[in-house]
Amino acid sequence: MTQDEQKQQAAIAALAYVEGGIIGVGTGSTVNHFIDALATIKGRFEGAVSSSEVSSARLKALGIPVHDLNSAGDLALYVDGADEANRQLHLVKGGGAALTREKIVAGASTRFVCIADESKLVDVLGKFPLPVEVIPMARSFVARQLVRLGGTPVWREGCVTDNGNLILDVMGLEILEPAKLEQQINNIPGVVTVGIFALRPADVLILGTPAGARTVTAEST
Ligand code: 5RP
Repeated sequence: MTQDEQKQQAAIAALAYVEGGIIGVGTGSTVNHFIDALATIKGRFEGAVSSSEVSSARLKALGIPVHDLNSAGDLALYVDGADEANRQLHLVKGGGAALTREKIVAGASTRFVCIADESKLVDVLGKFPLPVEVIPMARSFVARQLVRLGGTPVWREGCVTDNGNLILDVMGLEILEPAKLEQQINNIPGVVTVGIFALRPADVLILGTPAGARTVTAEST
């Protein structure tokens, strides 16, 4: 089974969590499968709040109404992918540069179901370069602060986020205390969001595997 088929399998399994109302929808190739799957059950929910312009366009193209989070209020369910997940369901996200809106919609949702292929499950976060969204004028300043924290930031040139900001991808971090590092990086002036999702981790992780979709819940530390 290919990695993409595993992503699709996880996405289809997430339909079981759809119980109506407005659904929070993330961004990425795994979520694209989820959006396609949602289009097959359109009568069972009202619409979506989306975490990116790309996902909004796909939702609309499939006839799924896209709502503004300000009018939708809190959501029962958010479904999104991840670049890495550990066994406490702390995540690294932002490979698709949508991390800030993803963190907002995750924060507004009661249940966060993360969908991924099994390669995304790791013992320690940090092999995937950690995305950090920064205000353009703060790019070099933030990069120097990230070096002080032990990382090697690389500017994702040519990438402008949906919020008009830039992305630094930080290599060389072994993220042993995800919640602490999330707070430290978020406190650097000029950082909009770091792609660590530990203060608000996923509640459920659905992994596509060659043996079928597997549901993982958080191990205590
Ligand atoms: C986008 C993200 C995605 O969830 C993450 O990059 C995973 O993407 P994919 O499903 O394509 O592997 O955080 O900002």
